[in-house]
Amino acid sequence: MLEHDVIIVGGGLAGCRAAVEIARTDPSLNVAVVAKTHPIRSHSVAAQGGIAATLKNVDSEDSWEAHAFDTVKGSDYLADQDAVEILAKEAPDVVIDLEHLGVLFSRLPDGRIAQRAFGGHSYRRTCYAADKTGHAILHELVNNLRRYGVKVYQEWYVMRLILEEGEAKGLVMYHIMDGRLKVVRAKAVMLATGGYGRVFNTTSNDFASTGDGLAMVAQAGLPLQDMEFVQFHPTGLYPVGVLISEAVRGEGAYLRNSEGNRFMEQYAPSKMELAPRDITSRAITLEIRAGRGIHTDGSAGGPFVHLDLRHMGREKIMSRIPFCWEEAHRLVGVDAVEEPMPVRPTAHYSMGGIPVDTDGRVRSGVEGFVEALFAAGESACVSVHGANRLGSNSLLECVVYGKRTGAAIAQYVQSRKLPSLEEGPYLQEAQEQIQALLDQQGEQRINPLCQAFQDAMSQYCGVFRDQESMEKGLEITQELQQQYGTIYLGDRGSLWNTEIIEALELKNIMVVGRMILTSALNRQESRGAHSREDYPQRDDPNFLKHSLAFYSAAGIDIQYRPVTLTQFEPQERKY
Ligand code: FUM
Repeated sequence: MLEHDVIIVGGGLAGCRAAVEIARTDPSLNVAVVAKTHPIRSHSVAAQGGIAATLKNVDSEDSWEAHAFDTVKGSDYLADQDAVEILAKEAPDVVIDLEHLGVLFSRLPDGRIAQRAFGGHSYRRTCYAADKTGHAILHELVNNLRRYGVKVYQEWYVMRLILEEGEAKGLVMYHIMDGRLKVVRAKAVMLATGGYGRVFNTTSNDFASTGDGLAMVAQAGLPLQDMEFVQFHPTGLYPVGVLISEAVRGEGAYLRNSEGNRFMEQYAPSKMELAPRDITSRAITLEIRAGRGIHTDGSAGGPFVHLDLRHMGREKIMSRIPFCWEEAHRLVGVDAVEEPMPVRPTAHYSMGGIPVDTDGRVRSGVEGFVEALFAAGESACVSVHGANRLGSNSLLECVVYGKRTGAAIAQYVQSRKLPSLEEGPYLQEAQEQIQALLDQQGEQRINPLCQAFQDAMSQYCGVFRDQESMEKGLEITQELQQQYGTIYLGDRGSLWNTEIIEALELKNIMVVGRMILTSALNRQESRGAHSREDYPQRDDPNFLKHSLAFYSAAGIDIQYRPVTLTQFEPQERKY
């Protein structure tokens, strides 16, 4: 059995930032990160537009209070305001600290960190490294893992969280390279496994974003919070769905319909293209529904709208958003200096996740916590984003709450011993699970079943929802989940068998997808990214509360817990 003081699952921004904090706080602690990819291939590397912080380098009248208010209003008042205050107050320090760790941000002519406009933010407060901000930050954090002596298990897939009598004791993990299984025990376990974009058929997320940490927690009998709130980023490149950063609009690009109109005038006149994402994604969807979308031959009635950068000029495009230009050029043959890009909403981010407090302690229910279990980043729900996240607050959450959770863990383990743990039954169970997959004599490959599930999620639980569509979605996804036993693997070997990983991931996609649908069906109101056509209004008297979904073989049970309000009273949300 492997042993560490702390084991962190996930090599993205939140996991790496926590690991660095633990190692900095107490260098004697033995800290490890386990990830199913190499850490610098974690999805954080794909974050583009930036990280919000009130450095006031461009807009000197900005303040943490303004940042907090924008975040709470953007969340449609579902965010926990104590957590938002921490996020906004600690932002400048964590960004400066990143710089000291080696991150190269873009600069103003006088050498200070540059800041740009982003959707829903009332000042220019998003710090950036061109349109590769996640890349710039993650590379330095991973370098710092080496510097601080953090052990990295890369390309190990975590199959199970070991939870005994309300206490996290360790993990069971599978080495993708050679099929080895290992149990690791630790004084504290932290989950930082990112999001679940692959639950949907069109997403900005990488192939690894399959909701593994969420499914693992749910299958251990713990709740997931606010799973109905799925962020659809307005500008996914059509048809592939990859991200075209909001930075493109932050730098001045326009959204236009088939009539050439900047239609955001109708939906958010004061913010136009820089309205929050929920509003902009709904506007694009409504334009397409109304026949003002565009076809690839330029005619009206098609499935996308245009993102028009042409007035920005080559110099600005190539210096501020070179990667977005390159994506459109490489993937759909569009030179954005000369032609508009085809875009439409794409599944992007999970506002919900593993419920935690502001020290990253995982909640066991409406009240109470799990011993020795922590979470941060996109897989967690603290909740700073409520029903709708503002762009550039997610890298910030990873860093602020990764750091805080790391500090809390470093403190927590001081008084703990390694838990007593019998590894045999866990190894046997995992071995049997792998063998059962290898032996399964089914009639379909993994991919068509996965595709059918993703299609159902996109069709029945997308930008707009209603009771009928979600009930249909639940019925279809249940049938598809029942077919899991009918898959077969073409590769039955133990060396680098990626089909085993795909099969395990599909199981997770199915658990998470059904939790999203069930939570969404139970919330009979529209709030933020959860937009119900049968309940078009926000309903504070009945639904100003977080949902907690509990998964079991018998079904999914929903409970609710209160939202923390401090300084901002809920108001009508207008832009
Ligand atoms: O549009 C973007 O660059 C995405 C940023 C974010 O999700 O925060």
